[in-house]
Amino acid sequence: MQGFDRWTGLRGMKMIELTINGKKTAVERGTTILAAAAGLNIKIPTLCNHELLEPYGACRLCLVEIIDGDRSQVTTSCNYPVTRPLVVETESEAAVKARRMVLEMLLGRCNTSEKLNRLAAEHGLAESRFELDYDDCILCGLCERVCREVVGANAITFANRGVDRVVMPPFDEADNCIGCGACVYVCPTGAIQIQEDGDQKIIDRWSRVLELKHCKSCGVEIAPVFQCDYLARQAGLPEDFFDLCRDCRVAQR
Ligand code: SF4
Ligand code: FES
Repeated sequence: MQGFDRWTGLRGMKMIELTINGKKTAVERGTTILAAAAGLNIKIPTLCNHELLEPYGACRLCLVEIIDGDRSQVTTSCNYPVTRPLVVETESEAAVKARRMVLEMLLGRCNTSEKLNRLAAEHGLAESRFELDYDDCILCGLCERVCREVVGANAITFANRGVDRVVMPPFDEADNCIGCGACVYVCPTGAIQIQEDGDQKIIDRWSRVLELKHCKSCGVEIAPVFQCDYLARQAGLPEDFFDLCRDCRVAQR
């Protein structure tokens, strides 16, 4: 069966040739430059990209240079679909300079992120010249997308515009948050933290406090009650399915 290209809306598996850092390859039409580069073992730094999620193009770190004769263009690679033959440079002066500037801006906002500091060091940056209002959230949108696209809980959204833009629970009520921790896992800056306090799981950034469920047989901790109920409903499982941990369930079969 022929594939459907979500970028161009065209059907067909047309292969397109491109050259990245002098290496030739051919990719299916609609493949992103980032993915094409990965296929050649060429690593382009990213902060807002995840293979399971739709590209969003928020952090601007994945900049590369596309050379077209004597013209060139610096563009993000994670959301640039290959629809015609291209010549791409990931380490040209223009691409590296643009990425350094992006990193410097991000570091000026959030200098506590281990990942940002590591990327900055890899780009020869020890510190930022900019002193912006501190915020450990760089608005990469990974938390919002993983919650909506993968978990399906829709517990995080973007609010406001411009400098006031933030990620937060819809209407500032984290009622939909199941406490799965997917947002904590994908966040590149550590802006979302999860902790346990006695029988509670707490996600500070969303002010979400969830009671933990324990196995009725052995007492081992399973997951937040709200998460167990959500998963049972989604999967059409009996209401008492998560009353037992996996081991006790298997033992009682
Ligand atoms: S909280 Fe983390 S994952 Fe969410 S937008 Fe901010 S930096 Fe990205
Ligand atoms: S990884 Fe491409 S814009 Fe963030």
